[in-house]
Amino acid sequence: MKLAFDEARKGTDTWLNPKVGAVIVKDSQVLASGHHQTFGHEHAEINTLNNLKNISMAKGATIFVTLEPCSHFGKTPPCVQRIVEVGLKKVVIGSLDPNPLVSGHGVKYLKDHGIEVENLNIKTDLNQAYMFSFNNHRPLVTLKYAMTLDGKINKFSNERSLISNSIAYDDAQDLRSNNQAVLIGENTFKTDNPQLTVRNKKMKFPPVRIVLVRDVNSVDLSKRIFENQAKIWFLSETKAHRNLPDNVEVFVGDWNVKNILNLLNEKKIQALLVEGGSKIQSEFAQAGMIDHLVIYLAPMIFGNGLGACNGQNQQIKTIEFQKPKYKFLGDNIRISTWRKK
Ligand SMILES: NC(=O)c1ccc[n+]([C@@H]2O[C@H](COP(=O)([O-])OP(=O)(O)OC[C@H]3O[C@@H](n4cnc5c(N)ncnc54)[C@H](OP(=O)(O)O)[C@@H]3O)[C@@H](O)[C@H]2O)c1
Repeated sequence: MKLAFDEARKGTDTWLNPKVGAVIVKDSQVLASGHHQTFGHEHAEINTLNNLKNISMAKGATIFVTLEPCSHFGKTPPCVQRIVEVGLKKVVIGSLDPNPLVSGHGVKYLKDHGIEVENLNIKTDLNQAYMFSFNNHRPLVTLKYAMTLDGKINKFSNERSLISNSIAYDDAQDLRSNNQAVLIGENTFKTDNPQLTVRNKKMKFPPVRIVLVRDVNSVDLSKRIFENQAKIWFLSETKAHRNLPDNVEVFVGDWNVKNILNLLNEKKIQALLVEGGSKIQSEFAQAGMIDHLVIYLAPMIFGNGLGACNGQNQQIKTIEFQKPKYKFLGDNIRISTWRKK
């Protein structure tokens, strides 16, 4: 199973699908291994069967697969059907799939067709956001900001402050690439004018860029976010009364944190990165919706400016986090921590 997990980690473009790996074994010999590489393409079990020298070798063999095989027609036919067809004798799974379309059904189908199934119930953070979102019916929320030693994320309003060094910047790009959506508030959109793209690697499924605005009709279409073709979602209180670029979608509603997370859950987004600014961060804190926190601390003091969470509500419950991890990135420190259970 360890080999199967090593395989699973190779899947770089699985996007909304979990990373899954598999290994086929007979007479203590590994016959083939494989993984799910790309969303919408073959699952790990099928790729592994295809990697056998001859498909007849599957007869009587055991497949170790990190997650329960699927039993429904999605973008590809059900893996369990193929497993039965090729005559595999036993299926050892890392854990059940939390997706209600699959959960338990894959195992049942296999058993009903005379295949021995063993569930090792392995707890791993390999598909953390995938597992989290199915178990909690909302995306896993990471909040990230760069901060000075006096707790500021900006020095003057209406002007961007440079806080992070280039190593922290690169690290933040990696963080972005590990999320399916990034979200910012209207002032950050106007002041920082970010592209919100992943620039340090090519991605088949780049994160959706989400901007909270009061009125989408007031958005300045010369902003840098429009320079890239990755999806842009504006969450606005008003409908658009003008033509917007093809990669833009507008969602009209009352966009408090609960409604935002409900929308993202409907859209199957499993991992959301909130990238500021202060007011939006405060709203996620007030809603108690920060699961993971990443702070880039820079050795400087502004002596003035905007705190990391600037809200008006006096009644906010304190959110407690686990013992933080830290790492030096040049002269910056990356602090990361998870909410206490
Ligand atoms: N150091 C860092 O890591 C970092 C990261 C990001 C941003 N920043 C800095 O943070 C500053 C911006 O922070 P900020 O607190 O002023 O603004 P913000 O959090 O980016 O955005 C808040 C604004 O969004 C508007 N908004 C529109 N739709 C909303 C909705 N559904 N819910 C809540 N608000 C909504 C609010 O309007 P109303 O006024 O009508 O409520 C408010 O003006 C910038 O200067 C930027 O440079 C720093």
